[in-house]
Amino acid sequence: MTRLNTALITGASGGIGLEMARLHAQKGGDLVLVARSKDKLEALKNELEIQYKVNVFVLAEDLSQADSAKNIFNQTEALGLQIDTLINNAGFGGHGLFHEREIEEEQGMMQVNMVALTNLTHYYLKGMISRNNGRILNVSSTASFMPGPLQAVYYATKAYVTSFTQAVAEEVREHNVTATVLCPGAVATGFVAAANLEGVDSWKYAKTSASVAKCGYQAMERGELVAFNQGELRFILDWILPFLPRKVVLKISRKAMEKTA
Ligand SMILES: NC(=O)c1ccc[n+]([C@@H]2O[C@H](COP(=O)([O-])OP(=O)(O)OC[C@H]3O[C@@H](n4cnc5c(N)ncnc54)[C@H](OP(=O)(O)O)[C@@H]3O)[C@@H](O)[C@H]2O)c1
Repeated sequence: MTRLNTALITGASGGIGLEMARLHAQKGGDLVLVARSKDKLEALKNELEIQYKVNVFVLAEDLSQADSAKNIFNQTEALGLQIDTLINNAGFGGHGLFHEREIEEEQGMMQVNMVALTNLTHYYLKGMISRNNGRILNVSSTASFMPGPLQAVYYATKAYVTSFTQAVAEEVREHNVTATVLCPGAVATGFVAAANLEGVDSWKYAKTSASVAKCGYQAMERGELVAFNQGELRFILDWILPFLPRKVVLKISRKAMEKTA
C-alpha cells in the first residue's frame, strides 16, 4: 500500500532532526526516521504515533557506511512508502587541527555529511520528478560560506551541501520539486559535545533546535532556495564577508572556533 505525505528525516534521534519530525507529525504527515540510535528513534515513534495518530517507521542505519543510502531506499521501497519529503539533516563536526585529527573520523564525516546526503537525494529525486511533486531540505550551516580552520573538513563538507543543493534546485524546478538548504549558526544540540566544541564561545548564544527546525521546515514548505534562521548572520555572510581579504576571513573564522574555556 502506498502512503501519501511521508517524510524521511535523517538524524531524527535528536536536535534539529527530532524537532523537524515533530513538526511534520503535527501536520498529520507520516514519517521515516533514520539515525543510529534505534532506542531514541523508537521512543520518538511512540510519542508521535500516540500524539498525532501518524504512521512512523524506524530505520536504524549508520550513514557513514557506504551502502547505507541504498539500504534505506530499498527498505522504504519494500515497505511501499512514497517519499514526498526528504530531509537530509544528519551530520556532525569535529574540532582540532586537521593534521592531528584521526583521518577515519574525517572520512566518516565526509560520508555522512556529503555522500549519504547526495545518494539519498539521488535515489528519492527520481520518484519525485516522475510524480511531479517533492520537497527536499538539506541541512547545511553558516560554516558553508567560509573556510573553517580548526574544523577544516566540517566547513568544507557544508560548502558542498550548500552548493550541491542550489544546483539541484535549479535542475528540478520545472518538475514541481524544490530543494532548500538551511544554514543555521550555532544551535544548542548534541552537536557541540559530538564535535568536541565545548569551550568555544560561538555556542554561548546558541539558538534552540525547535526554532531552527521551524525556520527550515517552513522555508522548505515555501520552496525557498537558501534559508537562514539568523538574519544578522545572513547580512554578514552576504554583504561583509565577500568584501574582506581572504586572510582576514581566515583569521576571523579561526578565532570563532578557538576554545576560551
Ligand atoms: N548544532 C549546531 O550548532 C549546528 C549548526 C549548523 C548546522 N548544524 C547541522 O545540523 C544538523 C543536525 O545537527 P544537530 O545540531 O541537530 O546535532 P545532533 O543533535 O548531534 O544531531 C545529529 C543527528 O545526526 C545523526 N547522526 C550522526 N552521525 C550519524 C551516522 N553516522 N549515521 C546516522 N545518523 C547520524 C545523529 O543520530 P545518531 O547519533 O543516533 O546516529 C543525530 O540524530 C547537522 O547536519 C549539523 O551539521 C548544526
